[in-house]
Amino acid sequence: MRTDTGQVFKLEDYRPSNFLIPKTKLSFRLDPDRTTVVSELTVERNAETSDGTPLVLDGDGLTLVELEIDGEKVGPNAYDLTPEKLTVHALPKRKSFRLKVTTEISPSTNTALMGLYRSNGVYCTQCEAEGFRRITYFLDRPDVLSVYTVRIEADRKDAPLLLSNGNPSDAGELDGGRHYAVWEDPFPKPSYLFALVAGDLGVLEDRFTTMSGREVALGIYVEHGKEPRATYAMDALKRSMKWDEEVFGREYDLDVFNIVAVSDFNMGAMENKGLNVFNDKYVLADEETATDADFANIEAIIAHEYFHNWTGNRITCRDWFQLCLKEGLTVYRDHEFSADQRSRAVKRIAEVRTLKAHQFPEDQGPLAHPVRPRRYREINNFYTATVYEKGSEIVRMIRTVLGREKFREGMDLYFERHDGDAATIEDFLRVFEDVSQKDLSQFALWYHQAGTPNVTVKASHDAQRAELVLDVEQSSPPTPGESRKRLMHIPLAFGLVGPSGEDFTWDTAEGASIENSILHIRKRKHSIRFTGISERPRVSLNRGFSAPVTLSVEEKPEDRAFLARHDSDLFSRWQALNTLMTEAIIEASKLIRGGKEPQFPDDLLVLCGDIAADVSLEEAYRALALTFPAEADVAREIGSNIDPDAILAARDALVAAVGSANGASFATLYEKLAAEGPFSPDAQSAGRRALRNALLDYLSASSGNPGRAAAQFEQATNMTDRSAALTTLAVRHPAAPETAAALARFEERYGSDPLVLDKWFQIQAAAPGRHSLETVRSLSEHRAFSLANPNRIRSLIGTFSSANQTGFHRPDGEGYRFFTEMVLAVERRNPQVAARLATALRSWRSLEPGRRALAREALLRISSAENLSPDLRDIVERTLA
Ligand code: PHE
Ligand code: ZN
Repeated sequence: MRTDTGQVFKLEDYRPSNFLIPKTKLSFRLDPDRTTVVSELTVERNAETSDGTPLVLDGDGLTLVELEIDGEKVGPNAYDLTPEKLTVHALPKRKSFRLKVTTEISPSTNTALMGLYRSNGVYCTQCEAEGFRRITYFLDRPDVLSVYTVRIEADRKDAPLLLSNGNPSDAGELDGGRHYAVWEDPFPKPSYLFALVAGDLGVLEDRFTTMSGREVALGIYVEHGKEPRATYAMDALKRSMKWDEEVFGREYDLDVFNIVAVSDFNMGAMENKGLNVFNDKYVLADEETATDADFANIEAIIAHEYFHNWTGNRITCRDWFQLCLKEGLTVYRDHEFSADQRSRAVKRIAEVRTLKAHQFPEDQGPLAHPVRPRRYREINNFYTATVYEKGSEIVRMIRTVLGREKFREGMDLYFERHDGDAATIEDFLRVFEDVSQKDLSQFALWYHQAGTPNVTVKASHDAQRAELVLDVEQSSPPTPGESRKRLMHIPLAFGLVGPSGEDFTWDTAEGASIENSILHIRKRKHSIRFTGISERPRVSLNRGFSAPVTLSVEEKPEDRAFLARHDSDLFSRWQALNTLMTEAIIEASKLIRGGKEPQFPDDLLVLCGDIAADVSLEEAYRALALTFPAEADVAREIGSNIDPDAILAARDALVAAVGSANGASFATLYEKLAAEGPFSPDAQSAGRRALRNALLDYLSASSGNPGRAAAQFEQATNMTDRSAALTTLAVRHPAAPETAAALARFEERYGSDPLVLDKWFQIQAAAPGRHSLETVRSLSEHRAFSLANPNRIRSLIGTFSSANQTGFHRPDGEGYRFFTEMVLAVERRNPQVAARLATALRSWRSLEPGRRALAREALLRISSAENLSPDLRDIVERTLA
């Protein structure tokens, strides 16, 4: 494991590399414990680099075997070796020379899953961000682009399949049962996009013809026997390829495109050129083993990694500070893809829920950072919701500010101007300024300034003068290292809603620039006066969530309820209902903390019933509308002095109240929504299942009877319905014999299928209540629990700490104690996964004082552990700061 040097990397320290590596030839002799890597580099001095400048290559955990320059051995006096650098002093005076480096590595003992490792007997690599230096010494930085030729040699029995980036160019047999393959990638790429896979895998094959008639061979490699479970992923891949042609004019550029599914993977998936490597969770799906949510994730992630081919690979990042250049943009692209494949409104609501659940707490806590950070200690810790999701929101706002056509023109210019470049956020913004002639300098603050801006709005209507005045004020709270904030450019979509739900138009409006129903907030305060408004309208704000801000609106609950029923913008309609629900839970939790009975407004119970029954709305939409804000969402809205037990009690009471108030109609609808015909993962069928399963939860919560959920569990013909029934049993009827029986049946039936067993761990880890800790602790001793598999760790420990507020934040601190033990155990093998787990404590300061003190102790316990990895130390120290 690397030692923590405490070094901080700063954006302003960026300097172009002294040396370039136009060509890289790699040769691998694969062996589980002793793999030999021979790297032959064509090294070139940069124009400004003097003859005396040494060549400093990055390395991490490598054994150097031999070094040659232009065919001559380099002796140990001519170089310096530290654990992290190989510095070669004596270099030829020529502009360009050949460097040959031979190293040895051990894939079988690589538990960090960075560099070359083994997953289930398959050799695979993960190089982003800085894993290539764990394979060979290199200029391991994204602005050093090289054309790669890769030769792989392995035992044929062990590894009949030999894959790397680019196109296959040669293959053959060798003595002793060994064989080899050669791959050539004509596109210059940074080292983080290198990949190699070797092993014994099954394949699902297909073809795609691009818009210019290029034939591409597609392959998805999975464990033998699981090929049929890759069908949906293949379909999603072909739809992604077509969509990128149609919507962005982007065509695929190699003869082959391969995807490999591996079971041990730190993240979701990786966009290596021509050879995407996936967490098998985001490839394998069929009705028996995957939920509708899994299908939707697979579609989105397959698309995401494919879209990286242009936004990430053809145009890459100059340095890791620019990570959002590829990630934010590619998330935006995959969001648009899913919106086009499914329901746009439903997709948007789901996106915003994710943003609020993950990015808002990050932006409002100790780990807040700008979308383009200016400093980092460990880049692995910056693959965050801020870089990804807020990064995507910024791209979306660019489209809002410029309009659809100019946005597309800007993207075309970006591809034309920067193809083959390692680019920056400034490059990206400039193309949009160039095509639109707009000054985006204030807008650019979205990249540079951390924190979620708040917008306060007050509406006053004067019937006599037929005027409406909106008083709008923006503010941005301080974030770590940034106490004073500058004023942002906030594009706020809005509508003035009349008494029958239609939008009012106005005669004149002054006080801010308004284009196509977008208010452009640029100053601290705007007073916007609309004339020609004789009746008092309801103001629908931030429609479609046009800007990632929090809103404080002085508004009567009746107005909010009106918008929840009538707003023509489906997103805002959902938002209005969601706010009503959140407020009701907050009020009830206050009563509960004061020792009183919770109470709920009847209107809200009726409103929920009406929405469930409103056939003019899509079923998926109704399901989302009926999904109550999670406990953590409510906690975020409360902001301080949080008592998770009171929130859970209030939320449960509201679910039960809605269920009782609408019992008969929910039961009828539940029956009516039963499946007919064969399973289909399409959005409409998924929506029907989602609504039905939401109703099941209400009915179970209000009746206290596990019968319906138990029956659904038994009769389910797909994983969506089965796991939803199991969840309802575990959450609503934890002590019922039906629940224990269903859990046992599920384990028995799916015990040998890791992805399904993950669900079993997850459902139990999420079931709330103080006693869930005992369950989770004993599951951590289950024979199928393993610290070697990141998916399993996330299913149990990740779910418990992020989705089980009452168990994790137990008032006696035992939840934290268990958690710190696990985090430290994980970090010994895999620091990256441990660091991500540890972010579960980021909102510790908003807890009530007792829990706050215990959470702080837990963080201190982690930080005082010996030999902490840079990954975990960085997270813990920032969280405590
Ligand atoms: N670049 C990957 C993506 O598509 C994420 C990733 C980062 C995967 C680092 C592995 C390691 O978002
Ligand atoms: Zn990505």
